[in-house]
Amino acid sequence: MAKLIVSDLDVKDKKVLIRVDFNVPIKDGVIGNDNRIVAALPTIQYVIDHGGKAILLSHLGRIKTKEDEEKLSLRPVAERLSELLKKPVTFIPETRGTELETAINDMKDGDVLVMENTRFEDLDGKKESGNDPELGKYWASLGDLFVNDAFGTAHRAHASNVGIASNMPQTAAGFLMEKEIKFLGDAVDDPKHPFVAILGGAKVSDKIGVISNLVPKADHILIGGGMTYTFYAAKGMSIGNSLVETDKIDLAKQIMAEAGDKLVLPVDSVVATEFNNDAPHKIVDGDIPDGYMALDIGPKTIAEFKDILKDAKTVVWNGPMGVFEMSNYAEGTLEVGKALGDLKDATTIIGGGDSTAAAVQLGIADKITHISTGGGASLEYLEGKTLPGIAAISDK
Ligand code: 3PG
Repeated sequence: MAKLIVSDLDVKDKKVLIRVDFNVPIKDGVIGNDNRIVAALPTIQYVIDHGGKAILLSHLGRIKTKEDEEKLSLRPVAERLSELLKKPVTFIPETRGTELETAINDMKDGDVLVMENTRFEDLDGKKESGNDPELGKYWASLGDLFVNDAFGTAHRAHASNVGIASNMPQTAAGFLMEKEIKFLGDAVDDPKHPFVAILGGAKVSDKIGVISNLVPKADHILIGGGMTYTFYAAKGMSIGNSLVETDKIDLAKQIMAEAGDKLVLPVDSVVATEFNNDAPHKIVDGDIPDGYMALDIGPKTIAEFKDILKDAKTVVWNGPMGVFEMSNYAEGTLEVGKALGDLKDATTIIGGGDSTAAAVQLGIADKITHISTGGGASLEYLEGKTLPGIAAISDK
């Protein structure tokens, strides 16, 4: 059933609580990448353009100590948001109390306020992450309406998403949440065929849920990255010093049996003597020789993947094909990214920080149909799990 959307609400004169995911990379107060802030703008802009008061809640990082609080204030994020919206944004360095309540009550229609990192509440008994009932109720009491636009946090049941929702008559999805559900949902539930999933990254254990969920739905599942060599080990091939999860070898065998020839493993690899860009390296077919570790897919594999991709109508990509941070082992990831960017008549979806970084590095981000703002959330969605943050949004 379709979800209630922010545009279904009458936001005029209303205090609209908006849960966003402003969990952005930040170091010494400098934001490394503002994609998630940019992605939340349409919802915030809609609320203020329609005469609502936008009160934003987000977590940032993980708060375990007082020192974490010093490093992980949302203040720089509020400043960046103000630049992007081209209007003042009030930042309140509190997650509760009189200063926050007064500031909210003083807001005029069209104003924007950001409260402090919701996980500051975690220092006192994990109230935010543990979805403390009183906290969700308190935050809900600060607004008239609730919009959840934090897709990246949808796999968490926090006080600031699920807790507020359970204390509001209804919860609407923001436009980002709507878009994420549409693209990922269509890919998983109603893909146009051929549907190709490209899964990379170091560990089979991280992708096992996605592979199992996609085996019946996808036409091809292309495997790259470090997890390849757990599959190689399962096939009885030599893996040299490559990454391997020995406790997942049986699981890898099971996946191969279930998936049959849908599962496409690399036929060649770039191997090096050390985990170092300058280490001696070469291309080998199949088995990885002793004294070498595999750090990228090889040219024959790239050609085979491209050949499969050229007819695809839906592609989901999560995880790099090799150690793409090192230039000598970046080609597999970059070539796969390019092949996606070149597809004319397909829905292409990228999830996960590394594949997104590769798309940005290649300058093809605007050629991709949808780049998910969710890391863990997009993976859990692709695993077919029910995400608590989405389940708490009202149906239309
Ligand atoms: C993310 O970046 O995946 C989300 O913001 C959730 O953050 P978390 O993993 O710290 O809960």
